[in-house]
Amino acid sequence: MTLKELGTPAALVDLDTLERNCVRMNERARRLGVTLRPHVKTHKCVEIARIQTRGHSGALTVSTMAEARAFAAAGFNDLTYAVPVPFHAIPEAADLLARGTRLNLLLDSEGALRELEAAGSARGLRFPVFLKVDCGYHRAGVDPEREESVGLARALAASLHLEFRGILTHSGQAYRCAGAEEALAVAEHERAVMAAFAEKLRSAGVRVPEVSAGSTPACCAARDWSGVTEIRPGNYAFFDAFQAAVGSCALEDALAFTVLATVIGHYPERGALLLDAGALALSKDPGATHVDARCGLGVLCDEPGRPIPGTRLTSLSQEHGRVAVSDPSLFARMPLGSKVRIIPNHSCLAAACFGSYVVLKDGRADGKWDTVGRR
Ligand SMILES: Cc1ncc(COP(=O)(O)O)c(C=O)c1O
Repeated sequence: MTLKELGTPAALVDLDTLERNCVRMNERARRLGVTLRPHVKTHKCVEIARIQTRGHSGALTVSTMAEARAFAAAGFNDLTYAVPVPFHAIPEAADLLARGTRLNLLLDSEGALRELEAAGSARGLRFPVFLKVDCGYHRAGVDPEREESVGLARALAASLHLEFRGILTHSGQAYRCAGAEEALAVAEHERAVMAAFAEKLRSAGVRVPEVSAGSTPACCAARDWSGVTEIRPGNYAFFDAFQAAVGSCALEDALAFTVLATVIGHYPERGALLLDAGALALSKDPGATHVDARCGLGVLCDEPGRPIPGTRLTSLSQEHGRVAVSDPSLFARMPLGSKVRIIPNHSCLAAACFGSYVVLKDGRADGKWDTVGRR
């Protein structure tokens, strides 16, 4: 099938670009001596997780219990549920563990430790647990400078009902960077904070098997992960307009995931055209406005994936996307009924709008992959 024959909006995955992005991250991890535990929240797709884990242990990161359930059912039995564990998820986490899926949980409080210990004792289980550490993002995690954090790690390691897996962080602050050099500094800070905290715990007599780190910008920029044992990027499989703007990838790498849309309105008198892709196809992520205040809500490309200069996606309602057109000749290039592709600002949020992907091989639709584990 050609793109012209597809209904829109549609989520497109370009197989060659996806595979190239995955191979590169695998090679980066291997070169720097860390294992890769890809985050699957970006795509929620078993086929893509298989590509990401070729020649690899199959360990994955998930962000919801629905993803944990779905990827466990697909045979992935080493998962890290990478949010501080919500208490209501503990019984299901125990069920998965009892059925043989290693589901690593995260905590950053004594309250969660007590809750997990009680559940582990009641079920006769030992939950594998990471201590979540704040390396500067300030979203979650213990402060590695505080003595209480060492105390919590000690309590974790001493617990009969928990298996202390190590320490884990996420450098989300790398998304505030304006380029690869800044992301390199964030990655180095993340590495240094985690390596130092692991050493502090070891000197306090706590065994720290794993040190887990890494956002996509940090993992693309890092040149050294000494002291870190695994990285957990996820967005790199698709990349997006944001990652290209902050220097994680070239814009063409972000063609791994695009949204196909149809031109449904021409308004030359006000220099605008309309697409049938709105916020429920692209999300409303504003993009890397700290790099380019006028970046718009995604990058408009033609069918082969070439950006169309002179266009700007200015606003999205639920199912409409408005495009400002600076050059009147562009209306002839994008006639009513024609198809365009949009590189979203945030591929994870845009992909979550769809239940399946159309797989592209050499520019033609060559299959369909379903997403799993959607709420
Ligand atoms: C805890 C955690 N680990 C890993 C990731 C993956 O990072 P990225 O989206 O930059 O690839 C995320 C993303 O939000 C995360 O929250």
